[in-house]
Amino acid sequence: MLTPDLLVRHARPGPRYTSYPTVPVWQDDPPDSLLLDAVGALDGPVSVYVHVPFCREQCTFCGCNMVVARRQDVGDRFLDAIAAQLDSFPLPDQPLPLVRLHLGGGTPTWLTPTQLERLFGLLFARFTPADGAELGVEADPDVTTDAHLQTLADLGVTRISLGVQSLDPVVLHGVNRPQHTERIEELVTRARTLGMRGLNLDLMYGLPHQTMDRFVGTVRRILQMTPDRLALFGYAHVPWLKRHQRALDESALPGPVDRAALFLAAQELLEEAGYVPIGLDHFARADDALAVALGQGTLRRDFMGYTDRPHAPMIGLGPSSISELPKTAAGPARFAQQKSKLAAWWRSVEKGEPLLERGILLTDEDRLRSDLIEELMCNLALDLDALGARYGLDLREHLKDELHALQPMAEEGLIQWSDAGFRVPDSHRLLVRNVAMVFDAYLKKPAPEGPRFSQTV
Ligand SMILES: C[S@@+](CC[C@H](N)C(=O)[O-])C[C@H]1O[C@@H](n2cnc3c(N)ncnc32)[C@H](O)[C@@H]1O
Ligand code: SF4
Repeated sequence: MLTPDLLVRHARPGPRYTSYPTVPVWQDDPPDSLLLDAVGALDGPVSVYVHVPFCREQCTFCGCNMVVARRQDVGDRFLDAIAAQLDSFPLPDQPLPLVRLHLGGGTPTWLTPTQLERLFGLLFARFTPADGAELGVEADPDVTTDAHLQTLADLGVTRISLGVQSLDPVVLHGVNRPQHTERIEELVTRARTLGMRGLNLDLMYGLPHQTMDRFVGTVRRILQMTPDRLALFGYAHVPWLKRHQRALDESALPGPVDRAALFLAAQELLEEAGYVPIGLDHFARADDALAVALGQGTLRRDFMGYTDRPHAPMIGLGPSSISELPKTAAGPARFAQQKSKLAAWWRSVEKGEPLLERGILLTDEDRLRSDLIEELMCNLALDLDALGARYGLDLREHLKDELHALQPMAEEGLIQWSDAGFRVPDSHRLLVRNVAMVFDAYLKKPAPEGPRFSQTV
């Protein structure tokens, strides 16, 4: 049983594990060759992530890397910079096959339909969508028009992810997010009519004023829209990193027990409606590709979230974008993140200043732990024998300290031992980050710069 006492005891700051090692331990200001050498060695299918940092308004809960921009010509300058960036990357002359494209932000549909056409033109000159490629775009319902959806469908976009967060007027008012439920319903219907699948809606729990009644009201109305997928993100309150979050009424924030109750209530409603829980915080209809991948053991997780696609080298474009590049003749696997602040990123691209803000070369030990944590975050289970065989290691011996450290968690019901390893019971999925943290070799080192992560519960 996931008791209030257990939740309070395990509520602590922890990473969300869309990567391992997590960004705070990466090296600052690495040379640009960390990225460029690895891009130059690419010769097969790739994924591409483009970070579009602009929004019309500032939602006060927002943890994303974004700026409020009211002048649309900023978008043209951004596209000029993406064009320059693509020209400066040592990509092969022939376009590389593109298996997955994701536009995130900020708000990609802040760009006008014409600007989006230009962006896709720039990308398709360098990358050719492979058969069955997944082309996805995040969209804010308040700025997304029918013309946006039509343009995206014409460009071959296969899935849209709409940020909803809440449908309750009191909650929305408290976080400065003007939004109309009817418009969201229209967009969902229209995206379907245009043939988009894997339609995702983002909801958040743990926002100020989000009582159980208000939250359940939102979830019930969302269920009537029958999305293919739902993300249920716990509000990450990190005012020391995101100063605008200080504008939120902290006294109206639910505590760990109330937050967990909101998540569990939503989980119950979604499961009753036939949705399958996916990893930490996603749900999908049983016939959706994510649920099918979970059943087949092929679900993956990366910087862009859960996916049914196998990992391909990922090229990031735009401020704060992360590239994830495998081991090649150019050297070990690596992560490289571009400058996050828009002004610094403009200077890098327009004036030729260094582009990277952080990066890391992965050791074999990093890759082992990365695979292990990914498996936990996807399947809530770990097969020590299968993973050990991939690395030629006896993991019971190699990880004996970590496995020993899990014993108190086993006694509390957070994990259950199995012949092959262990699993986190479904009822305890909210605490899977705590289990993953046991295997994070870097968390053992103190953080000199103060708090880094949001609460796990
Ligand atoms: C880039 S934003 C979404 C796209 C679009 N800008 C919008 O808001 O509709 C991605 C998602 O991150 C989630 N998010 C943003 N800030 C968050 C925070 N502080 N904690 C948890 N999730 C957050 C929201 O659910 C949001 O939809
Ligand atoms: S939640 Fe979306 S629309 Fe709101 S500020 Fe963040 S990125 Fe922009």
